[in-house]
Amino acid sequence: MDFYHVIRTRRSIRSYKPDPVPDDVLMKVLDSARIAPSGSNRQPWKFIVIKDEETKRRVAAACSGQMFIAEAPVVIVACGRNIHYNRGGYMGDLSMLVDVSIAFTHLILAARAEGLGTCWIGAFNNDELKRILNVPEEWNIVAVTPLGYPKNESFEEPGARKQLSEIVSIDKFQE
Ligand SMILES: Cc1cc2nc3c(=O)[nH]c(=O)nc-3n(C[C@H](O)[C@H](O)[C@H](O)COP(=O)(O)O)c2cc1C
Repeated sequence: MDFYHVIRTRRSIRSYKPDPVPDDVLMKVLDSARIAPSGSNRQPWKFIVIKDEETKRRVAAACSGQMFIAEAPVVIVACGRNIHYNRGGYMGDLSMLVDVSIAFTHLILAARAEGLGTCWIGAFNNDELKRILNVPEEWNIVAVTPLGYPKNESFEEPGARKQLSEIVSIDKFQE
């Protein structure tokens, strides 16, 4: 699938068929996250693949009760390791949020290329998810997504977006 078509037709999918995701496809999607760039190539990430029905339900409940997440055959939880040094810049511990978000974007776009739906979930209770998934103290949850074939939705170009003229300026910042 053409790269720009993948980008333009990725959208958040909130209803899923129960059909399983073939293992080879799942591995391709996960491998797309694996090869993402990260600051100093630190790769401060782990991805938890959840297929167990009860665990999916508990995770969905910890995501502000967004139960459509548990409808998907697979739920992926991206974890980032707090790193207490930064070779440059001001982000410190927060730099892992950038790194894991890049990898998760790889994953989400690869899923779209495979005809799989995702929905980046940012509304979750970090402590609760860590408890459910046995995540060690020095790690945090960065993002969650259901992964599966869309049920009532199709891949279309996303709706409301700002115009380029509103978000791009030349040579200096412009309100
Ligand atoms: C960091 C982040 C957090 C998000 N959290 C949620 C969420 O908790 N629940 C949800 O249904 N969608 C969530 N979304 C999806 C956004 O609502 C969605 O990407 C946005 O409205 C644009 O729509 P589109 O993804 O279909 O293009 C999140 C997206 C991002 C990037």
